[in-house]
Amino acid sequence: MLKNLQMQRTKLSLILFLALILTMMLAAGVLAADTTITLQLNNPNMTINGTSRPIDEAGTTPTTINGRTMLPLRAIAESLGLTVDWDAESQTITLRSADANSDNIQPGEPTTDEPVNGGKILVAYFSATNNTEGIANHIAAALGADTYEIIPETPYTSEDLNYGNSSSRTSIEMNDPAARPAISGSLANMADYDVVFLGYPIWWGQAPKIICTFLESYDLNGKIIVPFCTSSSSDIGSSATNLHSLADEATWLEGHRFSGGTTQTEVANWANSLNLMLTADR
Ligand SMILES: Cc1cc2nc3c(=O)[nH]c(=O)nc-3n(C[C@H](O)[C@H](O)[C@H](O)COP(=O)(O)O)c2cc1C
Repeated sequence: MLKNLQMQRTKLSLILFLALILTMMLAAGVLAADTTITLQLNNPNMTINGTSRPIDEAGTTPTTINGRTMLPLRAIAESLGLTVDWDAESQTITLRSADANSDNIQPGEPTTDEPVNGGKILVAYFSATNNTEGIANHIAAALGADTYEIIPETPYTSEDLNYGNSSSRTSIEMNDPAARPAISGSLANMADYDVVFLGYPIWWGQAPKIICTFLESYDLNGKIIVPFCTSSSSDIGSSATNLHSLADEATWLEGHRFSGGTTQTEVANWANSLNLMLTADR
Protein backbone atom coordinates (compact mmCIF):
# COMPACT_ATOMS: atom_id res chain seq x y z
CA MET A 1 0.00 0.00 0.00
CA LEU A 2 2.76 2.45 1.11
CA LYS A 3 4.91 1.24 -1.77
CA ASN A 4 2.05 1.98 -4.26
CA LEU A 5 1.63 5.49 -2.88
CA GLN A 6 5.37 6.15 -3.27
CA MET A 7 5.33 4.89 -6.89
CA GLN A 8 2.42 7.18 -7.72
CA ARG A 9 4.23 10.15 -6.16
CA THR A 10 7.36 9.35 -8.16
CA LYS A 11 5.29 9.16 -11.40
CA LEU A 12 3.58 12.49 -10.61
CA SER A 13 6.93 14.18 -9.96
CA LEU A 14 8.27 12.80 -13.21
CA ILE A 15 5.27 14.11 -15.18
CA LEU A 16 5.55 17.55 -13.52
CA PHE A 17 9.26 17.63 -14.29
CA LEU A 18 8.69 16.75 -17.98
CA ALA A 19 5.93 19.36 -18.26
CA LEU A 20 8.31 21.98 -16.80
CA ILE A 21 11.04 21.06 -19.30
CA LEU A 22 8.52 21.21 -22.19
CA THR A 23 7.26 24.64 -21.11
CA MET A 24 10.83 25.94 -20.86
CA MET A 25 11.62 24.60 -24.35
CA LEU A 26 8.49 26.18 -25.83
CA ALA A 27 9.28 29.50 -24.15
CA ALA A 28 12.80 29.35 -25.56
CA GLY A 29 11.44 28.66 -29.04
CA VAL A 30 13.19 25.30 -29.22
CA LEU A 31 9.88 23.57 -30.00
CA ALA A 32 6.96 24.97 -31.96
CA ALA A 33 3.61 24.59 -30.20
CA ASP A 34 1.85 21.70 -31.94
CA THR A 35 -1.73 22.09 -33.08
CA THR A 36 -3.91 19.07 -33.62
CA ILE A 37 -7.10 19.66 -35.58
CA THR A 38 -9.70 16.96 -35.98
CA LEU A 39 -12.64 17.17 -38.37
CA GLN A 40 -15.33 14.62 -39.04
CA LEU A 41 -17.46 14.21 -42.14
CA ASN A 42 -20.87 15.89 -41.77
CA ASN A 43 -19.97 17.26 -38.32
CA PRO A 44 -20.27 21.09 -37.98
CA ASN A 45 -17.78 21.07 -35.07
CA MET A 46 -14.01 20.74 -35.21
CA THR A 47 -11.64 19.87 -32.36
CA ILE A 48 -8.54 21.97 -31.84
CA ASN A 49 -6.09 20.47 -29.35
CA GLY A 50 -8.97 18.58 -27.77
CA THR A 51 -11.35 21.55 -27.55
CA SER A 52 -14.50 21.38 -29.66
CA ARG A 53 -15.83 24.49 -31.47
CA PRO A 54 -18.11 25.15 -34.46
CA ILE A 55 -16.30 25.22 -37.81
CA ASP A 56 -18.02 28.50 -38.70
CA GLU A 57 -21.26 30.42 -38.22
CA ALA A 58 -22.80 28.98 -41.39
CA GLY A 59 -22.70 25.45 -39.95
CA THR A 60 -20.33 24.19 -42.65
CA THR A 61 -19.49 20.50 -42.46
CA PRO A 62 -16.73 18.52 -44.16
CA THR A 63 -18.36 16.56 -46.94
CA THR A 64 -17.59 14.18 -49.76
CA ILE A 65 -18.44 15.07 -53.34
CA ASN A 66 -17.61 12.67 -56.16
CA GLY A 67 -15.39 10.67 -53.81
CA ARG A 68 -13.34 13.72 -52.84
CA THR A 69 -13.30 15.12 -49.34
CA MET A 70 -14.11 18.83 -49.15
CA LEU A 71 -12.62 20.55 -46.12
CA PRO A 72 -13.27 24.09 -44.83
CA LEU A 73 -9.94 25.63 -45.72
CA ARG A 74 -10.49 28.94 -43.93
CA ALA A 75 -11.34 27.36 -40.58
CA ILE A 76 -8.35 25.04 -40.79
CA ALA A 77 -5.87 27.66 -41.93
CA GLU A 78 -6.96 30.18 -39.31
CA SER A 79 -6.69 27.54 -36.59
CA LEU A 80 -3.08 27.10 -37.65
CA GLY A 81 -2.50 30.83 -37.27
CA LEU A 82 -2.58 31.67 -40.97
CA THR A 83 -4.55 34.57 -42.41
CA VAL A 84 -6.77 33.79 -45.39
CA ASP A 85 -7.62 36.37 -48.05
CA TRP A 86 -10.10 35.69 -50.83
CA ASP A 87 -10.03 38.05 -53.81
CA ALA A 88 -13.24 37.53 -55.81
CA GLU A 89 -12.08 39.61 -58.77
CA SER A 90 -8.94 37.61 -59.51
CA GLN A 91 -10.39 34.42 -57.97
CA THR A 92 -7.35 33.89 -55.78
CA ILE A 93 -6.86 32.72 -52.25
CA THR A 94 -3.82 33.91 -50.36
CA LEU A 95 -2.70 32.20 -47.17
CA ARG A 96 -0.16 34.06 -45.08
CA SER A 97 1.83 32.87 -42.13
CA ALA A 98 2.33 35.20 -39.19
CA ASP A 99 5.90 35.66 -40.34
CA ALA A 100 5.38 38.11 -43.19
CA ASN A 101 9.06 37.75 -44.15
CA SER A 102 8.72 34.07 -44.91
CA ASP A 103 10.79 33.08 -47.96
CA ASN A 104 8.06 30.74 -49.16
CA ILE A 105 5.07 33.04 -49.25
CA GLN A 106 5.42 36.55 -50.56
CA PRO A 107 2.90 38.81 -48.83
CA GLY A 108 0.28 40.08 -51.25
CA GLU A 109 1.17 37.53 -53.93
CA PRO A 110 -1.59 35.08 -54.83
CA THR A 111 -0.49 31.52 -54.07
CA THR A 112 -2.59 30.03 -56.86
CA ASP A 113 -4.36 31.14 -60.02
CA GLU A 114 -7.52 29.20 -59.17
CA PRO A 115 -9.71 28.80 -56.11
CA VAL A 116 -8.59 25.78 -54.10
CA ASN A 117 -11.92 24.05 -54.59
CA GLY A 118 -14.72 24.48 -57.03
CA GLY A 119 -12.38 25.67 -59.74
CA LYS A 120 -14.09 27.93 -62.22
CA ILE A 121 -17.66 28.93 -61.56
CA LEU A 122 -20.32 29.67 -64.16
CA VAL A 123 -23.67 31.31 -63.51
CA ALA A 124 -25.98 30.17 -66.34
CA TYR A 125 -29.48 31.56 -66.35
CA PHE A 126 -32.65 32.08 -68.33
CA SER A 127 -34.66 35.19 -67.57
CA ALA A 128 -37.74 36.33 -69.49
CA THR A 129 -38.34 39.58 -67.61
CA ASN A 130 -34.90 40.18 -66.01
CA ASN A 131 -35.64 39.20 -62.39
CA THR A 132 -33.50 36.07 -62.53
CA GLU A 133 -30.83 37.97 -64.43
CA GLY A 134 -30.48 40.38 -61.50
CA ILE A 135 -29.89 37.52 -59.05
CA ALA A 136 -27.48 35.82 -61.48
CA ASN A 137 -25.41 39.00 -61.65
CA HIS A 138 -25.36 39.26 -57.84
CA ILE A 139 -24.06 35.67 -57.56
CA ALA A 140 -21.44 36.28 -60.22
CA ALA A 141 -20.27 39.48 -58.50
CA ALA A 142 -20.07 37.74 -55.12
CA LEU A 143 -18.03 34.79 -56.38
CA GLY A 144 -16.13 36.38 -59.26
CA ALA A 145 -17.90 33.94 -61.58
CA ASP A 146 -18.59 34.10 -65.31
CA THR A 147 -22.18 34.46 -66.54
CA TYR A 148 -23.93 32.85 -69.49
CA GLU A 149 -27.44 33.89 -70.50
CA ILE A 150 -29.60 31.14 -71.97
CA ILE A 151 -31.28 33.09 -74.78
CA PRO A 152 -34.25 31.52 -76.60
CA GLU A 153 -33.92 31.34 -80.36
CA THR A 154 -37.46 32.74 -80.46
CA PRO A 155 -37.77 35.37 -77.71
CA TYR A 156 -40.83 35.23 -75.43
CA THR A 157 -43.28 38.06 -76.08
CA SER A 158 -45.58 39.33 -73.34
CA GLU A 159 -48.42 37.40 -75.00
CA ASP A 160 -46.24 34.24 -74.85
CA LEU A 161 -45.81 34.84 -71.12
CA ASN A 162 -49.53 35.25 -70.46
CA TYR A 163 -50.20 32.51 -67.93
CA GLY A 164 -53.87 33.47 -67.81
CA ASN A 165 -54.28 32.20 -71.38
CA SER A 166 -54.26 28.42 -71.68
CA SER A 167 -53.34 28.76 -75.37
CA SER A 168 -50.27 30.97 -74.79
CA ARG A 169 -46.87 29.68 -75.85
CA THR A 170 -45.74 29.11 -72.25
CA SER A 171 -48.99 27.28 -71.37
CA ILE A 172 -48.53 24.95 -74.33
CA GLU A 173 -44.80 24.36 -73.73
CA MET A 174 -45.19 23.68 -70.03
CA ASN A 175 -47.94 21.14 -70.71
CA ASP A 176 -45.77 19.28 -73.21
CA PRO A 177 -43.16 17.01 -71.55
CA ALA A 178 -41.29 16.78 -74.86
CA ALA A 179 -41.04 20.55 -75.42
CA ARG A 180 -37.43 21.70 -75.82
CA PRO A 181 -37.40 25.36 -76.93
CA ALA A 182 -34.25 26.05 -78.96
CA ILE A 183 -31.41 28.09 -77.49
CA SER A 184 -29.69 30.79 -79.53
CA GLY A 185 -25.95 30.05 -79.74
CA SER A 186 -23.99 27.96 -77.26
CA LEU A 187 -21.24 28.10 -74.69
CA ALA A 188 -17.96 26.88 -76.18
CA ASN A 189 -16.01 26.37 -72.94
CA MET A 190 -18.42 24.53 -70.65
CA ALA A 191 -15.63 22.01 -69.98
CA ASP A 192 -13.69 24.74 -68.14
CA TYR A 193 -16.25 24.99 -65.35
CA ASP A 194 -16.48 22.86 -62.23
CA VAL A 195 -19.48 24.57 -60.66
CA VAL A 196 -22.57 25.70 -62.57
CA PHE A 197 -25.17 27.88 -60.89
CA LEU A 198 -28.38 27.40 -62.88
CA GLY A 199 -31.04 30.09 -62.63
CA TYR A 200 -34.59 30.29 -63.97
CA PRO A 201 -38.01 31.82 -63.25
CA ILE A 202 -40.68 29.55 -61.80
CA TRP A 203 -43.39 28.83 -64.36
CA TRP A 204 -46.35 26.97 -62.87
CA GLY A 205 -44.14 25.65 -60.11
CA GLN A 206 -41.49 24.31 -62.50
CA ALA A 207 -38.40 25.38 -64.45
CA PRO A 208 -39.14 26.59 -68.00
CA LYS A 209 -38.59 23.89 -70.61
CA ILE A 210 -35.63 25.79 -72.08
CA ILE A 211 -33.71 24.73 -68.95
CA CYS A 212 -34.22 21.12 -70.09
CA THR A 213 -32.81 22.10 -73.49
CA PHE A 214 -29.79 23.61 -71.74
CA LEU A 215 -29.13 20.58 -69.53
CA GLU A 216 -29.38 18.20 -72.48
CA SER A 217 -27.02 20.31 -74.59
CA TYR A 218 -23.88 19.90 -72.46
CA ASP A 219 -21.79 17.24 -70.81
CA LEU A 220 -22.23 18.13 -67.14
CA ASN A 221 -20.74 14.92 -65.71
CA GLY A 222 -18.78 15.57 -62.54
CA LYS A 223 -19.84 19.19 -62.24
CA ILE A 224 -21.53 20.68 -59.20
CA ILE A 225 -24.87 22.24 -60.15
CA VAL A 226 -26.48 24.81 -57.86
CA PRO A 227 -30.06 25.62 -58.92
CA PHE A 228 -31.66 28.93 -58.05
CA CYS A 229 -34.89 30.56 -59.14
CA THR A 230 -37.05 33.65 -58.83
CA SER A 231 -40.81 33.63 -58.49
CA SER A 232 -43.71 35.79 -57.36
CA SER A 233 -44.32 33.61 -54.33
CA SER A 234 -43.80 29.91 -55.07
CA ASP A 235 -40.87 28.13 -53.45
CA ILE A 236 -38.36 26.25 -55.57
CA GLY A 237 -40.37 23.12 -54.71
CA SER A 238 -39.81 20.19 -57.05
CA SER A 239 -38.64 22.44 -59.90
CA ALA A 240 -34.97 21.66 -59.27
CA THR A 241 -35.21 18.00 -58.27
CA ASN A 242 -37.25 17.34 -61.42
CA LEU A 243 -34.19 18.41 -63.42
CA HIS A 244 -31.75 16.00 -61.79
CA SER A 245 -32.38 13.16 -64.24
CA LEU A 246 -31.27 15.41 -67.12
CA ALA A 247 -27.75 15.61 -65.66
CA ASP A 248 -27.61 12.64 -63.34
CA GLU A 249 -23.82 12.40 -63.29
CA ALA A 250 -23.58 15.89 -61.82
CA THR A 251 -23.70 16.64 -58.12
CA TRP A 252 -26.81 18.72 -57.48
CA LEU A 253 -26.77 20.98 -54.45
CA GLU A 254 -29.99 22.11 -52.80
CA GLY A 255 -31.72 24.86 -54.77
CA HIS A 256 -32.68 28.29 -53.51
CA ARG A 257 -35.57 30.63 -54.33
CA PHE A 258 -35.19 34.41 -54.39
CA SER A 259 -37.72 37.15 -54.84
CA GLY A 260 -36.84 39.44 -57.73
CA GLY A 261 -35.79 42.29 -55.41
CA THR A 262 -33.34 40.35 -53.22
CA THR A 263 -30.33 42.55 -52.47
CA GLN A 264 -26.74 41.95 -53.50
CA THR A 265 -25.78 41.43 -49.85
CA GLU A 266 -28.47 38.80 -49.23
CA VAL A 267 -27.53 36.94 -52.40
CA ALA A 268 -23.81 37.17 -51.59
CA ASN A 269 -24.42 35.82 -48.07
CA TRP A 270 -26.18 32.79 -49.53
CA ALA A 271 -23.55 32.24 -52.25
CA ASN A 272 -20.68 32.50 -49.76
CA SER A 273 -22.44 30.20 -47.27
CA LEU A 274 -22.09 27.39 -49.81
CA ASN A 275 -18.33 27.55 -49.16
CA LEU A 276 -17.58 26.52 -52.72
CA MET A 277 -14.34 28.48 -52.70
CA LEU A 278 -12.82 27.88 -49.33
CA THR A 279 -12.70 24.12 -49.32
CA ALA A 280 -9.81 21.91 -50.27
CA ASP A 281 -8.86 18.62 -51.87
CA ARG A 282 -10.29 19.06 -55.32
C1 LIG B 1 -45.74 31.73 -67.54
C2 LIG B 1 -45.45 32.15 -66.14
C3 LIG B 1 -45.78 31.32 -65.08
C4 LIG B 1 -45.49 31.70 -63.77
N1 LIG B 1 -45.76 30.83 -62.74
C5 LIG B 1 -45.47 31.19 -61.47
C6 LIG B 1 -45.71 30.31 -60.39
O1 LIG B 1 -46.17 29.17 -60.55
N2 LIG B 1 -45.42 30.73 -59.13
C7 LIG B 1 -44.89 31.98 -58.88
O2 LIG B 1 -44.67 32.30 -57.74
N3 LIG B 1 -44.60 32.82 -59.90
C8 LIG B 1 -44.87 32.46 -61.18
N4 LIG B 1 -44.57 33.31 -62.22
C9 LIG B 1 -43.87 34.57 -61.92
C10 LIG B 1 -42.38 34.44 -62.22
O3 LIG B 1 -41.82 33.27 -61.64
C11 LIG B 1 -41.60 35.63 -61.63
O4 LIG B 1 -42.14 36.83 -62.10
C12 LIG B 1 -40.12 35.53 -61.96
O5 LIG B 1 -39.39 36.34 -61.06
C13 LIG B 1 -39.81 35.97 -63.38
O6 LIG B 1 -38.43 35.85 -63.59
P1 LIG B 1 -37.70 36.47 -64.87
O7 LIG B 1 -37.96 37.98 -64.81
O8 LIG B 1 -36.29 36.14 -64.71
O9 LIG B 1 -38.34 35.87 -66.07
C14 LIG B 1 -44.88 32.96 -63.52
C15 LIG B 1 -44.58 33.80 -64.59
C16 LIG B 1 -44.87 33.40 -65.88
C17 LIG B 1 -44.51 34.31 -67.02
